Amino acid sequence: MSSKAVAVMASGRGTNLKVLLEAVAAGICPVDVRLVISDRADAEALNIARAAGLAGVLFINPKEYSDRATFDAACAEAIDAAACQWIVLAGYMRILSSSFVRRFHGRIINIHPSILPAFPGAKAVESAIEYGVKVSGCTIHLVDEVLDGGPILSQAFVPVFDDDTRETLHARIQKEEHKLYPATLKRMVEDGFSITGRRVIWKKHQDAGNRP
Ligand code: GRF
Repeated sequence: MSSKAVAVMASGRGTNLKVLLEAVAAGICPVDVRLVISDRADAEALNIARAAGLAGVLFINPKEYSDRATFDAACAEAIDAAACQWIVLAGYMRILSSSFVRRFHGRIINIHPSILPAFPGAKAVESAIEYGVKVSGCTIHLVDEVLDGGPILSQAFVPVFDDDTRETLHARIQKEEHKLYPATLKRMVEDGFSITGRRVIWKKHQDAGNRP
């Protein structure tokens, strides 16, 4: 199995998938996106994957499975058949079953639109505004069995303005997501990391030689 082989799971607009595929095509991000899976037939992410000419583009219909675990097992089989090392969640709106998370332990990555551990869950952007934080952003983390709770790989910050709406703040956060996901995946396959407790320790320090 190639350490660069990636499966992307996405349910929605797929802008993170789009910038990732662009970064791969431009030679900026050295991953091999072998498979894109969606749980929604109308997900724009599927069109983006097809337009990019990917061979592995799958809609797996949750309605054809009796429960979450059997649906996830079908996804897992496709991921293993494509020999993907990493599973990259990019706006994937289903909670993963414990069996899926255990099967791919330490190999599932998610992006979340808040500075975790603040505001986990599906309403992260509006919760940040309602709470009144002045800074928010996005977090890329490993997935474990706690929702949005796994070890943190990287984060980026944005200001929150007084007149922000969910849409304006999310748009500002997404600009950062679109830089951070390809950059983090590049680091992951080129440098690698280890885990100490719940800390991700990158094998090469990005800011080495540039610290105060
Ligand atoms: C992103 O904001 C991500 O943080 C969250 O879902 C959104 C997906 O956006 N998990 P897109 O479908 O990639 O545009």
